[in-house]
Amino acid sequence: MHIDPHEDSHSVYRTLTGLVVPRPIGWISTRSEAGVDNLAPYSFFNVVSVDPPILMFSPVDRPDGLTDTTVNVRETEEFVVNLVTHEFAEAMNQTSAELPPSESEFDHADLERAPSKRVEPPQVAGVAAAFECELHDVLDVGSNSLVLGEVVWVSVRDDITTSGKVDTAKLDIIGRLSGGSYDRIDNRFEMERPD
Ligand SMILES: Cc1cc2nc3c(=O)[nH]c(=O)nc-3n(C[C@H](O)[C@H](O)[C@H](O)COP(=O)(O)O)c2cc1C
Repeated sequence: MHIDPHEDSHSVYRTLTGLVVPRPIGWISTRSEAGVDNLAPYSFFNVVSVDPPILMFSPVDRPDGLTDTTVNVRETEEFVVNLVTHEFAEAMNQTSAELPPSESEFDHADLERAPSKRVEPPQVAGVAAAFECELHDVLDVGSNSLVLGEVVWVSVRDDITTSGKVDTAKLDIIGRLSGGSYDRIDNRFEMERPD
């Protein structure tokens, strides 16, 4: 099979999101200027830079308007990336509902808020880790707003550390495959990098 990306846009979406897998999920909390706490998952999410520490996520700009997350980030220049472990999978999915800006997904999914240290938006209470971010830049990339945030504080739950360091083996993270399909790590393996 071969695909010319300019021929069939639906197929391009399926091809990109069906093959660039598994994608980590940034569960983004923001606070609107009106004070509503918004929460939504974004699987176009990753690390961009270590010095300074920059994370990215990339909402699609809908024809009928920007997502609430994008509006809030552009207006308030702050957000939190919450990690999604298996225990939060169902709640994360609930928060992808398209609610009006006046309604909070925290309440819709019955999630508790925990205060952040350096930014206004709250984080999801009990998550394995949360990155508090200040907006670094928003780039218009085709149909998406590419949001870059500088990490100004990280909170890590003690039970996913060993000897004071993050221990990925203790992290029951989920990744997004295609559509409603997700994965969970149950078969890790190790390799030494060549010199
Ligand atoms: C696991 C998962 C990952 C998602 N990733 C993205 C994404 O990367 N970009 C995007 O535009 N929408 C993505 N969505 C859809 C948004 O979460 C959804 O449109 C949500 O309602 C946006 O909320 P907001 O308007 O409160 O920001 C994803 C949905 C799920 C369930």
